[in-house]
Amino acid sequence: MRVFITGCKGQLGQALYTALTGHTCAGCDLPETDITDRAAITVAIADFAPDVVINTAAWTDVDGCARDPDRAYRVNGLGVQNVALACAANDAALLHVSTNEVFDGTTTAPYREWDPPHPINPYARSKAAGEWFARHLLNCFYIARTAWLYAPGGRNFSNPHRIIQLARERGKLRVVTDEVGNPTYALDLAEAIVALIQTGAYGVYHLVNAGHCSRYAYVREVLRLGGCEDVPVEPISLADFDRPSTPPRFAPLANTAAAALGIEFRPWQAALEAYLEA
Ligand SMILES: NC(=O)c1ccc[n+]([C@@H]2O[C@H](COP(=O)([O-])OP(=O)(O)OC[C@H]3O[C@@H](n4cnc5c(N)ncnc54)[C@H](OP(=O)(O)O)[C@@H]3O)[C@@H](O)[C@H]2O)c1
Repeated sequence: MRVFITGCKGQLGQALYTALTGHTCAGCDLPETDITDRAAITVAIADFAPDVVINTAAWTDVDGCARDPDRAYRVNGLGVQNVALACAANDAALLHVSTNEVFDGTTTAPYREWDPPHPINPYARSKAAGEWFARHLLNCFYIARTAWLYAPGGRNFSNPHRIIQLARERGKLRVVTDEVGNPTYALDLAEAIVALIQTGAYGVYHLVNAGHCSRYAYVREVLRLGGCEDVPVEPISLADFDRPSTPPRFAPLANTAAAALGIEFRPWQAALEAYLEA
């Protein structure tokens, strides 16, 4: 297949290049091609003539999005509109990557693909807008929601090396116990996406490593596997943590739709161990 990746320098974009071995790939990212520039992204996609576009490009700074919701909507909403229109003009399918944050986190069981989104912060609202454009502008679309992504070189707090580095620098950490999600290894997600785009089974998917945990439990496991289990981790709650964005408290995803196609994930603990060993 010919596959075009937006956001190709990011965590997932890089993992996709690895997982797409044997396919013909190209990609774009900032600063060369901005998905908010409709002409630029349309030309980039038309020039490559892909079978599928995988849109990983996003403004993923959740607190930044809370400080500047208009910019969040421009990138994560209207940027997807541009990518979707370019797909429509070039007969390409779109796999758009979205987030567990489109849910409000007030449930008690992992969210299923058919649960109604109810975003509670500006990042989540902008990502929900992106889903809307993918869904309404195209017939041939996949929406792949994921959560708590990590990959080599990642700068977010889900990144195991960042957690270990912070633990060593600070000698102790404070981590919330009341935010629950699915830590997900970007390479596992990339392999699932590559399997999914070959099915032609368009629709909504929840692609995450199996199982879920709190941020606190995740950090404890990272430190244990990283040989830093003696670093104290103080359990705190979201209410103790002053930040611009409010994450959904309990927003793990359940993989029902992809599992029905035979696309399943290993448990998050096994993926984390494999990542740290590699
Ligand atoms: N990271 C997570 O925990 C997580 C969880 C759930 C869902 N997701 C979703 O998964 C996808 C991939 O996430 P990721 O962790 O791989 O993100 P990432 O590492 O931040 O990669 C995103 C890439 O998109 C680029 N980008 C930003 N704005 C752009 C624009 N206007 N035009 C073109 N490229 C642009 C970024 O460039 P700069 O670095 O220069 O901004 C970056 O290279 C995103 O859609 C995200 O919303 C992520």
